[in-house]
Amino acid sequence: MELPNLVLARKRTSNEVKKINYQLNEQYQNIGENKTFYVKTYGCQMNEHDSENIEGLLESIGFKKNPDMEKADIIILNTCSIRENAHNKAFGMLGRLKHLKEKHPEKIVALCGCMAQEEVVVREILKKHKHVNFVFGTHNLYDLPRLIYECVNSNKTNICVKSEEGDLVEGLPVTRVSKFKAYVNIIYGCDKFCTYCIVPYTRGKQRSRKMEDILDEVIKLKNDGYQEVTLLGQNVNAYGKDLNLGYDLADLLIKVSETGIPRVRFITSHPWDFTDRMIEVIKKYDNIMPYVHLPLQSGSDRILKLMGRRYTSSDYKQLFDKLKEIEGISITTDIIVGFPGETDDDFNETLDMVNYCKYDSAFTFIYSPRVGTPAAKLYENDPTTLEVKENRLYKLNELINNYSLESNKKMLNKEYLVLTEGVSTKEGMMWGYTETNKMVNFKGNEELIGKIVKVKILDAKSFSLDGELVE
Ligand code: 5AD
Ligand code: SF4
Repeated sequence: MELPNLVLARKRTSNEVKKINYQLNEQYQNIGENKTFYVKTYGCQMNEHDSENIEGLLESIGFKKNPDMEKADIIILNTCSIRENAHNKAFGMLGRLKHLKEKHPEKIVALCGCMAQEEVVVREILKKHKHVNFVFGTHNLYDLPRLIYECVNSNKTNICVKSEEGDLVEGLPVTRVSKFKAYVNIIYGCDKFCTYCIVPYTRGKQRSRKMEDILDEVIKLKNDGYQEVTLLGQNVNAYGKDLNLGYDLADLLIKVSETGIPRVRFITSHPWDFTDRMIEVIKKYDNIMPYVHLPLQSGSDRILKLMGRRYTSSDYKQLFDKLKEIEGISITTDIIVGFPGETDDDFNETLDMVNYCKYDSAFTFIYSPRVGTPAAKLYENDPTTLEVKENRLYKLNELINNYSLESNKKMLNKEYLVLTEGVSTKEGMMWGYTETNKMVNFKGNEELIGKIVKVKILDAKSFSLDGELVE
């Protein structure tokens, strides 16, 4: 039993990161034979990709995927901690599973992901959710076959959560959702410790994969016919810093681009680590997509400082202006309203920034206190009511949606390359994404799925575009 520990999770040492080459223990090889699994994923792309590894692990020991949760032999919830409502969703699902397990006690229920790394969550599970067979942390994915094996012979909740820093695990099996778009982790964890954020505690120390391991994965994907890779990390712009091997994200982007894979994306960027050279590389290589997600969080220097973001609004503007020089670029962002102590003036400065940047789109959130983070203490004395925060969010969204529409309208009657992803709910229509990550619906057939086609834009809305295929 290894319980999560916040104090350990906060610690950063200069110890070398341990690299583990995953190998399946033969003992576990057939434990899933004639059984099925259901994995429910909450949260970000990192979690989505972890679920691809979880499914790969399950299939490697004989389990088959079951689209019907109620019929599956093992149900795994891959959870997210970023805000309170993500927590509530997972606990709501645990409640549902309690009833299912009462009827079918032989079923296995497990919880993993960021919530598994939280001490408060695990204590609550041990106290109130005894139907959970085991909990495994973000650093313990590779323990899954062993945990399933052990749980068959035990009726106690097993907790397997490592809190210290985290290792680098290579060679985990993977079952990808898409046959033409793939996530590739390049850096795990985060050392930024923004004061509102739980991620550095749940995902551990910043640790980059070796460039050769990443390139091997990308080349394999390209040879398998993949059209697009998204290089993933909490802060991809810090890539390589911890390795001291003389290379960074700019060097990695060049190498990945040179594999010839048609589309290269990267997400998420922290403004602090964005160098001029990275911008030059994005400009120069055609298969690096002109799209940057650049979280602003707040437009007020006072709040940015309280958030520990390490830049001012003027630093951000300077970087933004340089990025705008990349031809056809689209820039999106994340913004938090109602950070503890945010005043109307602070909020107006956020609106000023949105008016300056005219983002293509944005994810906006009301600040949610996370146990153990520094901002949660400020929240205890926050005088601003939820109603005021909701009004701010509403006003912000209205402004952002206007700019999204404005930027989409600029695309009218022009032609764009779209990677076709699937069949739309509207009859005879397909959907896909432009190079700048805008969603387009257009008339077509299923044969186009996985192909990059040219589409002329005929109608623009805030959140999507309609177009027609150009022969
Ligand atoms: N409350 C609200 N939003 C948060 N984010 C991260 N932590 C919190 C929090 N405690 C937002 C940030 C981040 C995005 C992934 O989630 O905007 O960029
Ligand atoms: Fe959280 Fe900040 Fe790290 Fe992003 S950079 S994961 S917001 S601590």
